Amino acid sequence: MTHYLLVANWKMNGLAGDIDEAIRIADGCTHPNHQVVICPPAPLLSRMSTILDHENVHLGGQDCHSSKSGAHTGDHSAQMLADAGANYVILGHSERRAFHHETSELINLKAQAAWQAGLTVIICVGESESERLEGRETEIVGDQLSANIPVPESGKGRLVVAYEPVWAIGTGRVAEKAEIANMHQFIFQFCQRHLASEDSIPILYGGSVNATNAVDIFSVPHVSGALVGGASLKAKTFNPIFHSLPN
Ligand code: 13P
Repeated sequence: MTHYLLVANWKMNGLAGDIDEAIRIADGCTHPNHQVVICPPAPLLSRMSTILDHENVHLGGQDCHSSKSGAHTGDHSAQMLADAGANYVILGHSERRAFHHETSELINLKAQAAWQAGLTVIICVGESESERLEGRETEIVGDQLSANIPVPESGKGRLVVAYEPVWAIGTGRVAEKAEIANMHQFIFQFCQRHLASEDSIPILYGGSVNATNAVDIFSVPHVSGALVGGASLKAKTFNPIFHSLPN
């Protein structure tokens, strides 16, 4: 049976009162083979981790610094995320690449720190609308992947790739099934070239995923789940996506 992964990226949303929502997500998303990762804002992580005790629900951070500790006001390290109860971290989200000027090289330094701290890294890749219009989408995604793959020994078995076309994030525009299929095939082949045959890297799709389009998206080859933004904030909109995963 295929294992799927559904990741809730709460972005900069959620206060202590919203932990109840995470409990409703965890209670409503049980399946022997599918996993859920909730990535709340960092200040909620430790409180959530003391409350959530579900076997198939994990917690993740949304970013980390590349150093273990030091004079980096406002930042947090991968070790701190792990200490607060996280098992995963999202790195290289397009909002961080755009608003914090993160390069693929910096994202790789963060990934190495995260692997050292024992976290599983979810690396986000994706082209902008103009890059797609210029026909450069695989070149862009290939460059973003090249900075992070091959995976060092410390990260073996602990990398997830999330393909999020920038133009589909928060816009209500979902990529066509054929566009998702082509890019996931490209990422799958890219990973295969750099992996031992027994390893595989889950490839998530992200960008305006909701309960209406989820079944279609999950039917595309090499889609191992989704990275969900807006629809992940409420159990009412997130749990039906989980229940759209193939059995
Ligand atoms: P939306 O699901 O709100 O489009 O966000 C996608 C995303 O950026 C998840 O990381």
